Amino acid sequence: MGDLTGRTALVTGASRGIGRSIAERLAADGAQVAVHYHTGGQAAAQTLAAIEHAGGRGFVVGADLGTDQGIDNVVAMLREQFGNLDILVNNAAMMSKGRDRIDGEEFDRIFAVNVRAPFFLTQRALPLLADGGRVITVSSAATRIALGDFAYAMTKGAVDVMSRVLANRLGERGITVNAVAPGLTVTDMSDWLDADSAAAMARVTALNRVGYPDDIAGVVAYLASGNARWITGQVIDVSGGLWLGPRGSGNPWLSLLPSAVTAENGQP
Ligand SMILES: NC(=O)c1ccc[n+]([C@@H]2O[C@H](COP(=O)([O-])OP(=O)(O)OC[C@H]3O[C@@H](n4cnc5c(N)ncnc54)[C@H](OP(=O)(O)O)[C@@H]3O)[C@@H](O)[C@H]2O)c1
Repeated sequence: MGDLTGRTALVTGASRGIGRSIAERLAADGAQVAVHYHTGGQAAAQTLAAIEHAGGRGFVVGADLGTDQGIDNVVAMLREQFGNLDILVNNAAMMSKGRDRIDGEEFDRIFAVNVRAPFFLTQRALPLLADGGRVITVSSAATRIALGDFAYAMTKGAVDVMSRVLANRLGERGITVNAVAPGLTVTDMSDWLDADSAAAMARVTALNRVGYPDDIAGVVAYLASGNARWITGQVIDVSGGLWLGPRGSGNPWLSLLPSAVTAENGQP
């Protein structure tokens, strides 16, 4: 068993994608996991089945986190099933369909799901959250790159601020609060990604590929672990170096460096 044996965790949006991978990873590390879903009850049951198949434990909880009632239901289930909570992972989120033509209704909805829900879920789960616990929110590299769906990017900027402020408030209880910011990651949210666009994304990523859910889950598991006890108030980029600048000879800055720095094996 891993570092998280005896801990309890909630992962929102764990029916699929990154949340599912985080739930499975935390369970593999020993935590009991509340697997939250909204519409994907069957998919969440599959996440739980995978956890149990690997020897882990947990339960599923369904709720629309865009509503107060949904948030309250999740907290009530945590109280009933776990009694306390060690690790809260705010992962569930949506993108907007309207993108730069987004209307007021969709704008309010995306802020309700991506910002209001993590804020009030964290606030209402706080009485259950153990001293020395963890709050980890999934943000996005979209906060530092101008995207078409900028309402979505704005929501992620908001949770970065939430994490920093909460870290300062909760530090005296030994609770760390951080965000992780994935780059493009292969999930339903990126279902537009075909081979050509994946290759194009790889070309603007230092590590030369797109991300996969377990690339993110490993970092979340690390933040949840004792090894990360001294990290708080941070937004950790988990994008493989997405959009750090032009790569290779296309980068004009490289010609300004001494050639020994850029040449292989330090040989000019
Ligand atoms: N994929 C990427 O390229 C990428 C990049 C950067 C950041 N992220 C972030 O990573 C996180 C996970 O994204 P993903 O790609 O795994 O997304 P995904 O595959 O679209 O899954 C989204 C999850 O959020 C849940 N959800 C959506 N609306 C909800 C609501 N109203 N109430 C409760 N739950 C709701 C869904 O539940 P149901 O399916 O059960 O309805 C699902 O489990 C998000 O915070 C996203 O912003 C993703």
